Amino acid sequence: MNQRSQYRRLVDFELHNQMQLLSNQLQIKQQELEKSHNCYIDLYDHAPVGYLTLDNNGKIFSINLTGASLLKAERHTLIGKLFSDYFANIDKQAFVTYLQETFSSSRKTSIDLKIGNIDDILSYVRLESTVINSKNMCRMMMSDISQLKKTINLNRDLLTENRQLMKELFRVQEKERRVLARELHDALGQWLTAIRAENEVILNYTDKNSIIFTSAQAIKECTEKMHQVIRTMLHRLRPILLDTLGLPDALCELKKQWISHNTGTILRLELSGNLSLLGERLNINIFRLVQEGLNNAYKHAKASQIDVFLGRETIMGNSTAEFLLLKIKDNGKGFNLHANSTGLGLVGMRERVITLDGRMVIESAQNRGTDITIRLPFPAKN
Ligand SMILES: Nc1ncnc2c1ncn2[C@@H]1O[C@H](COP(=O)(O)OP(=O)(O)OP(=O)(O)O)[C@@H](O)[C@H]1O
Ligand SMILES: [Mg+2]
Repeated sequence: MNQRSQYRRLVDFELHNQMQLLSNQLQIKQQELEKSHNCYIDLYDHAPVGYLTLDNNGKIFSINLTGASLLKAERHTLIGKLFSDYFANIDKQAFVTYLQETFSSSRKTSIDLKIGNIDDILSYVRLESTVINSKNMCRMMMSDISQLKKTINLNRDLLTENRQLMKELFRVQEKERRVLARELHDALGQWLTAIRAENEVILNYTDKNSIIFTSAQAIKECTEKMHQVIRTMLHRLRPILLDTLGLPDALCELKKQWISHNTGTILRLELSGNLSLLGERLNINIFRLVQEGLNNAYKHAKASQIDVFLGRETIMGNSTAEFLLLKIKDNGKGFNLHANSTGLGLVGMRERVITLDGRMVIESAQNRGTDITIRLPFPAKN
């Protein structure tokens, strides 16, 4: 063998080795690629949610196994079929509108669709879709939210029931207070009047320098104080003026009593418009709201000024709505609205407002006072 052919054989051998090496590397890469492809397929098919590709008519182009099992069909039978055909009770119009919205939007769209009866295991699905760039297709994610919806519906029902109970509770509480007030007024009040009358007899027929006269004088003072206490208690339990003269007079009386107990704080009460015929339910609730608002301003705010406003408000819109606007504002130390509290006053106020279909907003900041705004629909619903 000459030198030239020897050299050629050497080059061929090296080339062959290099080719072999490259082929081995290629094989390894192919195996890796296959592995990650299988992994991707596995992830795609067995993801906890359904993945689909749909065209703009709602025909299924591709779907993973989870999606197929949510549609209760073999995957291969689904391709080319209408997505909405696979649900018994689906609102087809809602789905078509949703699809149109998805294809005309560049953002992700989502919808919760009722697709079965409430007793079905699968009764609600959530669809989230985005259009694939420059194609007439969209990618859709479908998840089973039946359990979530059932829990939400259950919570909503419980809340409605709770509100109903609160309404009843306030009614019974007011009835009970009215009975207590009557007992206090008719029984205790009458006995006290009798004691005062008998005492007057003793005072009139006894020597002014005797010990008996001094005692009778003391009894007179005591019974006067007791009368005052009963009057305050009566007013707290059931503002008598509310039943006889209406809300404005009852609030003025509340202001008078409040000022006599809380000297040093300016209380301004502004009443606007005709408030005399609001009805018993609104009357008592507004009175209690003001009462608790004032209690809090006194107990917690250390305010030097409190302003209470109550008036009618007309909000113009598509349809005109009339509200009662109640504002209780103090210039006290304010408080953190997110702090936990064991108190029941504000919760009770909010519940009262909700049972009247109203809204309550509280604004408060450290050393900047507290502002409570309540809007109640007028006339009130029963
Ligand atoms: N006007 C106010 N100024 C400052 N802090 C207030 C005011 N109103 C309420 N707070 C704060 O909010 C908390 C909750 O008030 P809430 O009326 O619910 O309970 P309470 O007054 O402490 O007790 P309860 O009303 O049950 O007797 C209060 O403890 C207080 O810290
Ligand atoms: Mg309170």
